[in-house]
Amino acid sequence: MERVLVTGGAGYVGSVCVARLLDRGYAVDIVDDLSAGHVEAVPAGAELHKFEIGNREEMSRLVSSKKFDSVFHFAAKALVPESVTNPAIFFDVNVAQSLAMLEVLRDHGIRKFVFSSTAAVYGNPDTVPIPEDHPKNPVNSYGESKLMFEQILRWYARAYGLSVVAFRYFNASGGAATWGERHEPETHIIPILLQVASGRRTQFDIYGSDWPTPDGTCLRDYVHVSDIADAHILAMKKMGTPGFNVYNIGTGKSHSVREVWQLASEVTQKKIAARQSPRRAGDPAILCADPARLKAELGWEPKHSDLKGIIQGAWEWEKAQSSKAETGVSA
Ligand SMILES: NC(=O)c1ccc[n+]([C@@H]2O[C@H](COP(=O)([O-])OP(=O)(O)OC[C@H]3O[C@@H](n4cnc5c(N)ncnc54)[C@H](O)[C@@H]3O)[C@@H](O)[C@H]2O)c1
Repeated sequence: MERVLVTGGAGYVGSVCVARLLDRGYAVDIVDDLSAGHVEAVPAGAELHKFEIGNREEMSRLVSSKKFDSVFHFAAKALVPESVTNPAIFFDVNVAQSLAMLEVLRDHGIRKFVFSSTAAVYGNPDTVPIPEDHPKNPVNSYGESKLMFEQILRWYARAYGLSVVAFRYFNASGGAATWGERHEPETHIIPILLQVASGRRTQFDIYGSDWPTPDGTCLRDYVHVSDIADAHILAMKKMGTPGFNVYNIGTGKSHSVREVWQLASEVTQKKIAARQSPRRAGDPAILCADPARLKAELGWEPKHSDLKGIIQGAWEWEKAQSSKAETGVSA
């Protein structure tokens, strides 16, 4: 049985990918320090090892104890507003600790590596939809730190024969009654809107209404986490030859903040209070993927990324969370 090491598998995207790997018959070990993840999110059947990815001793012990065929690297600091005010921790986890881990993996001959990068590497795009070879001008340290690690991986692939796939996700989203987005603090639009709808939050901030977009609010490309998980499995099956490959994961369609707000009101049948706020530092105006390369080379198609369906699933999750909060069960 093939075994996959998943970092950040107790987090939002990682836990869904772990569940998918287990469904497909892979053995999974997770390394997660639970700084932002949740034990309850870890799918049954995966083994959780609680330590920081930068802990070389623990990592060496783990990869010496079992044979791993590949690594999915989700663990990261990933909240954009925090990356503007506190870049140090982003360069620590996303670059220094990730590099320390990569060195341990190299020592142990682990050659297949899938990396969670981000659309934030592009910054404010010159053209949309954004192809992978678009210039990279990150406007926050989160995007910069991810770009730095991509570059490290590119050199490692060339020099040490690694087979690397870096996925630049656009807005990962979606949920269901049993799984969903749980960041602390939450900075993502869909969970925030739904928390207002359920009464767990008082209002929704529209950050800027003077962006150069049709309705003045930011445009984003929402991709369901299940479609992200599919891309990971497709990549793993194709990997083997040394090299660095990078793909956008997005739908190629973007939606404005106002549009998402209206759709969330429609899905929940609730009035979602909103206020106009100043632009938030580090936000580009428009992010929309060109997913042509992922479709052509890996045969990927988004199957779950219709925005209304994404919000409906995320609403199931929010309703479950808010009823737990009401009954005093820890969410
Ligand atoms: N959510 C999105 O919209 C989105 C978009 C683009 C890229 N990404 C990338 O996808 C990945 C997963 O994102 P997510 O939304 O699931 O985030 P998340 O915060 O839910 O998950 C990250 C996980 O990594 C763990 N972690 C953080 N630092 C660690 C460390 N030093 N050692 C061990 N574990 C550590 C956290 O405890 C958490 O479980 C990240 O790499 C993120 O940059 C996410």
